[in-house]
Amino acid sequence: MIPIAQPLMGEEEKEAVIAVLESGMLAQGPKVEEFEKAFAAMCGVRHAIATSSGTTALHLALLAHGIGPGDEVITSPFTFISSANSILFVGATPVFVDIDESSFNMDPSLIEARITPRTKALVPVHLFGNPCDMEAIMAIAARHGLMVIEDAAQAHGASINGKKVGSFGTGCFSFYPTKNMTTAEGGMVTSDDDQVAEKVRLLRSHGMKRRYYHDFLGYNFRMTDVQAALGLAQLAKLELFNEKRIANARYFTERLGEVIIAPQVRDGYRHVFHQYTIRVKGDRDQMVEQLGERGIGAGIYYPLPVHQQPVYRELGYNERLPVAEAMSQEVLSLPVHPALSQADLERIVEAVSQLQMGISAGMKD
Ligand SMILES: Cc1ncc(COP(=O)(O)O)c(C=O)c1O
Repeated sequence: MIPIAQPLMGEEEKEAVIAVLESGMLAQGPKVEEFEKAFAAMCGVRHAIATSSGTTALHLALLAHGIGPGDEVITSPFTFISSANSILFVGATPVFVDIDESSFNMDPSLIEARITPRTKALVPVHLFGNPCDMEAIMAIAARHGLMVIEDAAQAHGASINGKKVGSFGTGCFSFYPTKNMTTAEGGMVTSDDDQVAEKVRLLRSHGMKRRYYHDFLGYNFRMTDVQAALGLAQLAKLELFNEKRIANARYFTERLGEVIIAPQVRDGYRHVFHQYTIRVKGDRDQMVEQLGERGIGAGIYYPLPVHQQPVYRELGYNERLPVAEAMSQEVLSLPVHPALSQADLERIVEAVSQLQMGISAGMKD
């Protein structure tokens, strides 16, 4: 089976982790600091603060911006649930704006209609590695005095005209094993704002500036040196990994562009293809099954938009967001990760073309 995701672990990762294990310093220490500096440099920002996950990165970023009960935060309904859950964690209210079907990202033209006097921040999600329209989003934020916290969990190294995601507002990244680079579990907050960065640092470790003196309520959301060592080795390969993902995506689009609705990339945008997500003409679930029978592990991201998840229904969300709802029925992601061989790529193209042509022929009957 060609898996939908596959972390690539080499000798560098193994040696780096063993060196930490032998050093005796396992928890947050010098490797975390080194990883933070290297990640900040990659993003082109002054600060990066490592956390225990992408979810805790979002949670701390929202807290550090002073977002809490009574505040509304606008985000996408078509994302992994933690983009919205982190807003709930701080006691604020997620407000969903429908997506644009060509990018799967929040549609900026729909944002202003959802802004109220309670709106404090925007959380655009760079879904599948494709940057949101940050020019439009930053202009709206400036017009309405809103903060911007980018959910860049799937978009390490993505950029718009060379400017990296995570450097427009406060950035939040995840290093879960399926991501473009991994630390097993882990996350990172990026920021150019000294105060936000300092607040995240303190919140990450029990609000403790001086040992065992706690200025405010904080958490244990730290990364370990074992994870950071892994992260440093992976970060050194991120460009290579991303280039391979981009090349794999190009290979698919060139060969499948006629039979599927391929991902679209805007001029100047660097889409780093965390997922290669297509829209299927016909029965999507059947196609996932048939690809599975042919040894290709396709994924569905996401089968149910956040506002329709039981936990959100329970909270009273009952609006209709037609594009997100339609996309959740149509999308399918193909393996695009850097571990794919030429033979894998050819097998994927052949299977998808055959199945899609079968579906189209069936539809004409
Ligand atoms: C868009 C998005 N946001 C947030 C997260 C949360 O990251 P983590 O799983 O590291 O907590 C993820 C990843 O799983 C994600 O894909």
